[in-house]
Amino acid sequence: MQHSFEINSASGSYNAMVGADIFGDSVGRILEKKPADKVFLLIDENVESHHGDYIINTLKSSHCDVEVKIVPQGEGSKSVPFWEEASTFLLENGVRRNTPLFVAGGGVTGDLGGFVAATTLRGIPLVHIPTTLLAMVDSSIGGKTGINHHTGKNLIGAFYRPDSVVADIRFLDTLPRNEWINGLSEILKYGAISDNAIFDDAEIFLQADISSGNADTLINLIAKCIRIKADIVQKDEFEGNIRAFLNFGHTFAHALEKECGFNAMSHGEAVFLGMLAAARLSNQTGSKLHENRLDKFRPLYSYRVTAEELNAESLTHHMRADKKRIENHIRFVLLDDWQHPVLKTVKDEELIYQAWRTVFSELQNRQKATI
Ligand code: GLY
Repeated sequence: MQHSFEINSASGSYNAMVGADIFGDSVGRILEKKPADKVFLLIDENVESHHGDYIINTLKSSHCDVEVKIVPQGEGSKSVPFWEEASTFLLENGVRRNTPLFVAGGGVTGDLGGFVAATTLRGIPLVHIPTTLLAMVDSSIGGKTGINHHTGKNLIGAFYRPDSVVADIRFLDTLPRNEWINGLSEILKYGAISDNAIFDDAEIFLQADISSGNADTLINLIAKCIRIKADIVQKDEFEGNIRAFLNFGHTFAHALEKECGFNAMSHGEAVFLGMLAAARLSNQTGSKLHENRLDKFRPLYSYRVTAEELNAESLTHHMRADKKRIENHIRFVLLDDWQHPVLKTVKDEELIYQAWRTVFSELQNRQKATI
């Protein structure tokens, strides 16, 4: 089973593919269409240790030299110094305007590699090989690239269209549990803002072993998410309006990540808590969301942070510092109803504090559940 999407952007269209064991054929087709005697590969160090030989040999089988740069694990690689190091590697090893850069890894490697491709020689061809669930359903689609600055996350970057995205679920076999959770939260986000059926499909995550035996369901689910994201970014590539819906739960999540530190709270945990808070805030500002479709996924999440370590004032302060804030009051993606996202500015801070209390009680409940 395999799905293929043509995604339009201001600078041309690109193809995104998802399937099992599609990497070899897809790379063959990409390099047949645009032959190259040399390609560059930026590859996450974990992915390199599990799949490096396979990826490099597959690229070499298209009769090209492969120059490989390993990207150390962690957010630290999405930095100005590592962007310079990777760019230097390309420039010192003969990159030309038509030399493709293949980028294999999760969100960090993808964002960094995309920015290297966008900036080297004012732009070279980019092929994303997302190897995490999050990268497959979210970060590899839509052309956002960038690195962090010491004043904040993702503050330096560019919109840059990839040539192709190849999402092969064979790479998910070695994915650690926290990475499945990171992907799941983004998948549930698509359920909340766009497609109720995703909540049913995502029940495969409630089973002990997600990938084995569920390949087709997983591929279909990833494809649904890519389709939703593609529809949104085609209508609003540069986030003038509806692309912001993809940030459902993320205003709360970014504040949690900032307050707790990225090691104490994963992105997926923060986004799940953020969606619970956003659902509560939706109801406090006039919506009537009955049955919380996120409920059945609660047992999948466990947290290393306790409610006692957090306070609503400080978390709200972090929200104010968000780079996407365009006015004095904080603007949220809320739900008029499930699958009906809306952008709302909330002026009454007490409502925001109450939404934080939903997060605190979830942390308490989950702690009790695991004692
Ligand atoms: N991850 C949100 C976006 O790509 O806009």
